Amino acid sequence: MTLHWFGLVDNVKSVTTVHSAVSRTGNSVHWYTEANELQDQLSFSEGAVVFLKTSLAYNAYELCRELSAAYPYISIVLLVPAEELDLKKAMHAGAIDAVVLPSQEAEVIQAAREAESAVRLKMARIQPDTPEAPKADGRVVTICGTKGGVGKTTLTVNLAVAFSKSNLKVGVLDLDLQFGDITILFDSQPKRTIYEWVKEEYEHSRGNLDRYMIRHSSGVEILSAPLRPEFAEVVTGEHVGIIIGELRRRYDLVLIDTPPSLVETGLVALDNSADILLVASVDLPTLKNSKLCIETLESLGMKDKIKLVLNRDTKIDGITAGTVENVLGMPIYSRIPSEGKVVVASVNKGIPFVLSNPRSAVAKSVFSCAAKLQSQQRSTNKASVKKVPKKSMLARLLTR
Ligand SMILES: Nc1ncnc2c1ncn2[C@@H]1O[C@H](COP(=O)(O)OP(=O)(O)O)[C@@H](O)[C@H]1O
Ligand SMILES: [Mg+2]
Repeated sequence: MTLHWFGLVDNVKSVTTVHSAVSRTGNSVHWYTEANELQDQLSFSEGAVVFLKTSLAYNAYELCRELSAAYPYISIVLLVPAEELDLKKAMHAGAIDAVVLPSQEAEVIQAAREAESAVRLKMARIQPDTPEAPKADGRVVTICGTKGGVGKTTLTVNLAVAFSKSNLKVGVLDLDLQFGDITILFDSQPKRTIYEWVKEEYEHSRGNLDRYMIRHSSGVEILSAPLRPEFAEVVTGEHVGIIIGELRRRYDLVLIDTPPSLVETGLVALDNSADILLVASVDLPTLKNSKLCIETLESLGMKDKIKLVLNRDTKIDGITAGTVENVLGMPIYSRIPSEGKVVVASVNKGIPFVLSNPRSAVAKSVFSCAAKLQSQQRSTNKASVKKVPKKSMLARLLTR
């Protein structure tokens, strides 16, 4: 696999020292002034080190975040004037390093070497064992919601089993990294979680998920959230991007549960999803926050993927399904009734209610949500499931 060196600058003359420093490492940077040109090149490249210089013409930090989510096999080094340096922001955006301009040659060389070895590590991890290694084309569905307790985890678990019952190979990723409880709802006690995967596999230049997936009797396989909240910090957006790629290779359908907040790991999941199930309930705080969430996802070009699921669907003080649709500005995709007895008993027994009470109203609604998603999947062209809209997303960010 070939490693490329690219850069994005508003003015090529401003990075001559960077160019000559990289040349000393035996490599040559191809500089672009248009983000679209850079993105086109990345689409055809297996791996790349990318220098991104901050500019008035585009938001380099946001672009960095977009590119690192879209192309997992790149390492980005930000080039920034001293007064604009925000290392924490750069790291959160997915950059491997930030170099202050103007800079010493030695500093650029060190950053370039680190970026190069990081990409090579990632590329080594994706080398297929055989030329016919299966393509990653499982469908990714992320379940999100702006409040704890709206029913994200309940929906994820029961949808997973519903899909599995219709003979799909289903993988579940618990991205509620601090307080994930997917395995509790499946009554299993994981020994290895996403945290151990990072420590034992990723950090040793491997990426195999075999030992980390927990198999439930329904056929659903789960990658658990860490066992302790403090381990959550270890898992980054980059890890999540790699894991999703692996899961897509292994499963027909990948369901991802998320925490109530919009964090980087969750955003990577949303960005890599064909469908986003936004779980809402009939109460004003949830509606207000769901609206904010929709607006945020809209600004990231993800609104089209949102499907609104109304959980615990009951009429409360005049707030009807119609009110919810009006407030949120989108139709309700699926309605799940409130059925405390069935749901709570299922949680306490650790048996998803689509298995323990398949004829209950709540189970039937989950089956019909699964069937609707499945029929849509069949009618969706595989190519369009893959993240084609990246270009327009990027373009939207750039023109903001
Ligand atoms: N449709 C429903 N009817 C009754 N109880 C529900 C329903 N959906 C969820 N619950 C209950 O609400 C609580 C929170 O659900 P959970 O799925 O853990 O929410 P989240 O993952 O969004 O925090 C759980 O006790 C669950 O049993
Ligand atoms: Mg939850």
